[in-house]
Amino acid sequence: MGQLAIEPEDGQRELRVAELLSSMSRALDLTEGQPQGHCIRCCWIGMQVGRKIALNDRQLSDLYYTLLLKDLGCSSNAARICQLYLADDLTFKHDFKHVNGSLPQVLHFVLTHTGPEAGLAERFRAVVNILQNGGEIAREQIETRCQTGAGIARKLGFPESVATPIRQLDEHWDGSGLPERIGGDDISILSQLALMAQVIDVFHSSAGPQAAIDEVKQRSGTWFAPYLTHVFAMFANDDAFWETLRSERLSDAIYDLEPARMIKLADEDYLDDIASAFAQVIDAKSPFTSGHSQRVTLFTDLIGSRIGLDERHRRTLRRAALLHDIGKLGVSNRILDKRSWLDADEWEAVKMHPVHGEAILSGISAFADLKPVVAGHHERLDGTGYPYGLQGDEIDLDTRIVTTADIFDALTADRPYRAAMPVDEALAIMDEKAGPAIDPQCLVALKAALDDRPGGAGPEPAAAGPSG
Ligand SMILES: [Fe+2]
Ligand SMILES: [Fe+2]
Repeated sequence: MGQLAIEPEDGQRELRVAELLSSMSRALDLTEGQPQGHCIRCCWIGMQVGRKIALNDRQLSDLYYTLLLKDLGCSSNAARICQLYLADDLTFKHDFKHVNGSLPQVLHFVLTHTGPEAGLAERFRAVVNILQNGGEIAREQIETRCQTGAGIARKLGFPESVATPIRQLDEHWDGSGLPERIGGDDISILSQLALMAQVIDVFHSSAGPQAAIDEVKQRSGTWFAPYLTHVFAMFANDDAFWETLRSERLSDAIYDLEPARMIKLADEDYLDDIASAFAQVIDAKSPFTSGHSQRVTLFTDLIGSRIGLDERHRRTLRRAALLHDIGKLGVSNRILDKRSWLDADEWEAVKMHPVHGEAILSGISAFADLKPVVAGHHERLDGTGYPYGLQGDEIDLDTRIVTTADIFDALTADRPYRAAMPVDEALAIMDEKAGPAIDPQCLVALKAALDDRPGGAGPEPAAAGPSG
């Protein structure tokens, strides 16, 4: 697995890849509109069934990471869902996981979830489009999600034996799944286990053990191989299984599973890879955030270099910049991609994204240094920022640097409600705010770094960009 199988060097922090990825999986739960801990609970469920069917050690290890990372591609179809269904992607995704694919259920879902707040004519047009083109729309959405997820897993250094099960997550035993409609043993056993674990957790979380047991039984022979559902039935009356699943210490339980105890350690390069991979998940959420995290990282590094920070410090700052908007995974695309001004409730939801980001990183010791930046990148020196209204010295230099880079990229990229701004115009606007809101030292460093670039005029405005 390349860089994952790393022996500790002298002085290197012992950081388990399993621990790191299970913490980061909380960001994926947010994007899927799932209760926190969904991926961790799926990991527990899938591993119990996987051990009962006697998978070998290698398969169990691959299953462990497949279960934790199955939703890596989940942000990539959020914008499309909003656009097609005129709906909130987080609610849509949460509720869709309860649909079993039967025509009455699908029709009921489409009629109740399409354009809930849209006008009648607009809603009717959207419903007709979905009913006429539903098959292709669903295939396209799932293909995007599965391919993106598999690609990011590869980027994290996982082999095809993990990437393929992530790609096949939505295939069904009877061939009715998507995107390739493969069936039976053509579907990786790890995908089959991951999908069954997902259904079990969704129904158990919303309605308890009996609902999960009934749902698996009902989908036996269609979504799931009958022998797998029979194995799961062995857990039906096992109180310890359900109690562990509900336990607040479930994270500890999954660290004690055999694959996690094989202790694959993450080194500094791997931490960079994780930050970069999750930046890709963040940027995939909206066409208006495409490339934003990468560009903010570049501008951040230019400022850091100009200010004279050492390489170690700049490395931490680059990770902070890559992950600064991770909390946006918890904000609906209905709001992020809105082309008109936000109402008060929508604006409050946007203002929560630094708080979501802080919460995601709070359990990850290796990223503890990044938390102030993630939490504070919308604060302003004069106290007019959000979410905490920090002022002056309450905002550290690292945060001021990322904030400067973030504002610059937000101005020079398209937003849902206005086109990208020329570099000179953006810098002029930032000049006006230097002092009261933006750190003047950071702005001077950014301008100097842009002047040093070939042509001296800074980058051309990006084709698509963020809302900050
Ligand atoms: Fe932000
Ligand atoms: Fe941003």
